[in-house]
Amino acid sequence: MKTLVIYTSQTGFTKRYAEWMSESMNADLFDVKDVQKKENSFFDEYDAIVYAGWFMAEKIAKVNWFLDKAQNWKDKQLAVVGVGGSPNEEQAAKTETSKVLTEEQAKYIKAFYCQGGFNYEKMSLPSRLMMKAYANSLKKSKNEKTREMGNLVDHSFDMSDKKFIEPVVEYVMGAMAKEA
Ligand SMILES: Cc1cc2nc3c(=O)[nH]c(=O)nc-3n(C[C@H](O)[C@H](O)[C@H](O)COP(=O)(O)O)c2cc1C
Repeated sequence: MKTLVIYTSQTGFTKRYAEWMSESMNADLFDVKDVQKKENSFFDEYDAIVYAGWFMAEKIAKVNWFLDKAQNWKDKQLAVVGVGGSPNEEQAAKTETSKVLTEEQAKYIKAFYCQGGFNYEKMSLPSRLMMKAYANSLKKSKNEKTREMGNLVDHSFDMSDKKFIEPVVEYVMGAMAKEA
């Protein structure tokens, strides 16, 4: 049984989650830019493929590449993992994740969410400017919860935790065990 974990990460949180998943599932690990140009046959040997990307404006980075490929991988166990700044337990994070897949895609791919954090030092300049402007707009809100969110996202923080990968590992490995 072979598993592949593919990821894309700007500031390192998704990469860390991808590494944790690859260690836990004994899976091969690749940055998406290193597999994007591979022949379709490269993916044939894998029984399960997990794609992890960071959330940017409610979309998972480069997920369309995976969703496109996944149409031909319906015989494999497939998962998408979004990594974002929103808290794991928040409905917002769950809603964001479920919005990633169409009803049809959800029949053969499962979506998960893991909270990462913010690392302003490693962000690209456009990302940093965008986030600072977003944080400032949240802080001006009349809604207390929104202001709290603004205060949270205006500086770097790290909420990544290995426990957040457990449902993904369970989903992938559980299916493998059933097949064995
Ligand atoms: C421009 C921008 C937009 C973002 N949009 C979202 C979002 O919609 N939802 C969310 O939960 N996090 C959002 N984030 C936070 C990132 O997803 C978060 O920092 C994540 O941990 C980054 O992962 P990485 O270190 O792998 O790049 C955004 C960050 C940036 C810079």
